[in-house]
Amino acid sequence: MRLLVCGGAGFIGSTFVRLRVRDHGDDVTVLDKLTYAGRRENLQDVIDDVRFVHGGIEDPASVAQAAAGCEAIVNFAAETHVDRSISGPEAFIVTNMQGTHVLLEAARERGLRYVQVSTDEVYGSIESGSFTESSPLQPSSPYSATKTGADLLVSSYFHTYGLETVICRGSNNYGPYQYPEKLIPLMILNALAGDHLPVYGDGRNVRNWLYVEDFGRGIGHVLAHGVPGEAYNCGGPDECENLEVVKRIIDLTGADETQIEFVTDRPGHDRRYSLSPAKLEALGWKAEVRFGEGLATTVDWYRENAWWWEPIRSGAYREYYERHYGRALG
Ligand code: NAD
Ligand code: DAU
Repeated sequence: MRLLVCGGAGFIGSTFVRLRVRDHGDDVTVLDKLTYAGRRENLQDVIDDVRFVHGGIEDPASVAQAAAGCEAIVNFAAETHVDRSISGPEAFIVTNMQGTHVLLEAARERGLRYVQVSTDEVYGSIESGSFTESSPLQPSSPYSATKTGADLLVSSYFHTYGLETVICRGSNNYGPYQYPEKLIPLMILNALAGDHLPVYGDGRNVRNWLYVEDFGRGIGHVLAHGVPGEAYNCGGPDECENLEVVKRIIDLTGADETQIEFVTDRPGHDRRYSLSPAKLEALGWKAEVRFGEGLATTVDWYRENAWWWEPIRSGAYREYYERHYGRALG
């Protein structure tokens, strides 16, 4: 296929691009603004196989340039970190909502299939059981509110204009190339460096972990087989409390439990996420990587790829870290 992948230089987008180029031989154009989270390095092994357009999805001229000749748009581009959405929601509104609108208009003008990459956070928190696609949308954070707004806009383009849209909602991803502001890479790098391991609240919040290549394949399934107008949950095979995740990382890295530090909780912190993937499984997708295996692979990857994370940990991330956690990285 001739695909426009927006946000293809980020963590999940770059994994998806790699899968599409290598396993499907797709002709891929990446449109990415290269924010702090987007890096050409994430595409190091496929950069010569894709067309790269540097620009924002909220900019119609960049989108028009990138969409030329494409058959479908897959939109990963977003501001994605919940903590940053709490301290500064504006960029989330511009990229996640306005940007999605610009992409939908481009798809409508050209008659392109449109895949929106979304999140379990649109459903809010669930005490027991799992969310299905018909669960009510009850986002808690500015991040998840903007992702929900985008999902609703996408659905409206199906209902109003008959645009061929599909939505794929993933649970918490982990794996190589994830920016270290997120729980798992943050804890791995801090564990390896002998830094503190900052656990929010009581550490008993539960996340539903999905290995990034499984999500990439799930999105590919939705692109190929998803019914227009529908949403599909792509939930991981395992759930785990945050404190347990941190303890597993300590075991895998040889760090020490005395590095754990309980810190002030995130405002509005969702307690538990859990997605039922039954509808996507009925399309033929199944998660292949269990959490234990994927976490070990991820720790190995960070150990072996200091070239990738060292410039991050010594750059603007240090300032973010100090501002957010009130202490410097060691
Ligand atoms: P990321 O933060 O690693 O990457 C985001 C990418 O989008 C970066 O390359 C960035 O440069 C780019 N970008 C940001 N603003 C842009 C703009 N205005 N125009 C063009 N590009 C822009 O994010 P990720 O974790 O890879 O998430 C990708 C998508 O998957 C997001 O839509 C996110 O909501 C969704 N998602 C993430 C997870 C998760 O656990 N990380 C789970 C479910 C869904
Ligand atoms: O569920 C899917 C979502 O997963 C995606 O839509 C988001 O883009 C992605 O950022 C992620 O959101 P979370 O808020 O769940 O991920 P994060 O890695 O920020 O936090 C995971 C859990 O770990 C959460 O309960 C908060 C906790 N946490 C996080 C950090 C960064 C800590 O205890 N300490 C930390 O330092």
